[in-house]
Order: sequence, then structure tokens, then C-alpha cells
Amino acid sequence: MNDEAGVRLGAVEQTLMIPLYGRAVETRKRRPLLSDPRAVQIVESLGYDFARMKAFASGATGAVLRTVMFDVWVRRFLAEHPGGTVVEIGTGLNTRFDRLDNGRVTWFDLDLPDVITLRCRFFHDTDRRRMLPASVLDPAWVRTVQTGPGPYLFVAEAVLLYLEPYHVEEVFRLLGANFPGALLAAETGGRAMADSVNRNDVIRTMGARMTWVCEDPAEMERLGVRLLESRTFLDPAPELRARMPLRFRVMSLVMGAVFRRRVRSYRLNLFRFARG
Ligand SMILES: C[S@@+](CC[C@H](N)C(=O)[O-])C[C@H]1O[C@@H](n2cnc3c(N)ncnc32)[C@H](O)[C@@H]1O
Repeated sequence: MNDEAGVRLGAVEQTLMIPLYGRAVETRKRRPLLSDPRAVQIVESLGYDFARMKAFASGATGAVLRTVMFDVWVRRFLAEHPGGTVVEIGTGLNTRFDRLDNGRVTWFDLDLPDVITLRCRFFHDTDRRRMLPASVLDPAWVRTVQTGPGPYLFVAEAVLLYLEPYHVEEVFRLLGANFPGALLAAETGGRAMADSVNRNDVIRTMGARMTWVCEDPAEMERLGVRLLESRTFLDPAPELRARMPLRFRVMSLVMGAVFRRRVRSYRLNLFRFARG
């Protein structure tokens, strides 16, 4: 993507457009699962061709469900630790802070420098919210985040799947060494999921690939984390299920029946790092 203001986004960076578009489309629905007027405003003002995403409605809707499932964990964390720190790894043009801010949390939005340059057109740093232009693999950001009060929740939504397996391990090791006891919300996807993502036209056109395949999130426990919770689209948390519009329940049932292997191979997980 070449933005009119001169921002260039690479393959993996461009994938941020899928959840952004999903949230904007969802917001315009009569009974939305999530309301995100900022996403609508950003989609309308970005010089990006969203037309091709119309053919990827299921991906955009899936991204919305994923986002609200991650929101459940962020809400729970903030309810228990209102003054803690949340770090959005690979934030893209995510609006989670705008949607969930409790007035006390310290928040960092971390992404590659080109994405943060783009993000700066729509978001601004405040005394509790800061953007960090860095790769998650570059330990230089750690010190800055450590200035925020604990406990810490890291959210890596639709990020790790696109990293090389040894880079995913590096991320786990970096977080575990520097933030003992922290929580990490991140997905895992098995081979069935990877094959489906890598066959998808929208993602292929962007040039992105799902490179990290993990059949069982419990495998990550060898890196010093405990798997606290693991969900698929078929079993969202009870507090979310209670308010899910009918079309999402139907979508989950249909996808569960038709794409059983793929849906079961994609998991949203909450990990806790050992306390040191
Ligand atoms: C599919 S997008 C998800 C964006 C956001 N999490 C959301 O759900 O809206 C993937 C994001 O991961 C970011 N990303 C990829 N590799 C990264 C890295 N090494 N360090 C930090 N961010 C990275 C991309 O730039 C992109 O913004």
C-alpha cells in the first residue's frame, strides 16, 4: 500500500486493514456486536482500496468476533487491575483503548515504524497512552513499557501467526524474562487454519502468509507460560455469548459444521508467564 501521505505498508503490515474494515462494517449494522465509530471514520479517510475486501466478508466478520473475544479478557483484566498496564502488540489501527479505556489504565500501542507513522494520523499520545514504533522482536521497547505500573497484559491479536516460529519463541522468551507473572492473549492456528489463510485471495494479494503453525497451544508451556484459557469461535466466553446477535450464533454454528477442522484448529488463548 502507498498512502497519499507517503506511508508505505509491507505485506504483513497491510493485514491490519482486514480487522479495521471488519469493525467499520460491523458498526454500520443494525444490531452490531461492537460499535467502533473511529474505525468508520478511518476507513472513510484512508486512501485505501477496500473494495476487494467485500469478497472476504467472512474474514472481516471473523475478525470482529476475534476482537470482541480479546476484549473480554482486557475488560476482565481492567476490572481486576484498573491501574495496570496493557500493551497492544502489533496494534495496527486498532481502537481497543478508545473502546475500553477505564480512565486509569496505562496503555502502549506497539507496531512497526511505518504503521505507527500511519497511526499518528488518527491517534495521539496522552499521559496514559503511548505509541511505540518498534518490532516486538527488538528488546529496546521493554524499558519503556516497564515504566508503566504492573500488572501487565499483552495482547497480540492476529500478529504472531505471521511470524516465523523461532521469532514467536523469541517473543515468549522476551516477555517471560522481562514481565514475570504477566498475561498474554494471543491466537494459535493449526495446519488446517494455515492452509485456509494461505489460500485466501485477499491475504495472498497482500503478500502475507501465516508462517507459525501450532496445533496445540499447551505446547507453549515449554516456554515458561501456563495456558489459562483457550477458546474457539464455537465457545466464546459466557458474558459475550449472552449478548451475541443471532447472525453471529448462526455463523458459528454453520462454520462449526462446514469448516469443522479449520474452526477447531484456530484458538484464542490466554497465557500467564511464570512469576520468576
Ligand atoms: C492482522 S494485523 C492486526 C492488527 C491489530 N492487532 C488488529 O487486530 O486490528 C497484524 C499487525 O501486526 C503488525 N506486526 C507484524 N510484525 C510485527 C512485528 N515484528 N512487531 C510489531 N508488529 C508487527 C503488523 O504491522 C500489523 O499491524
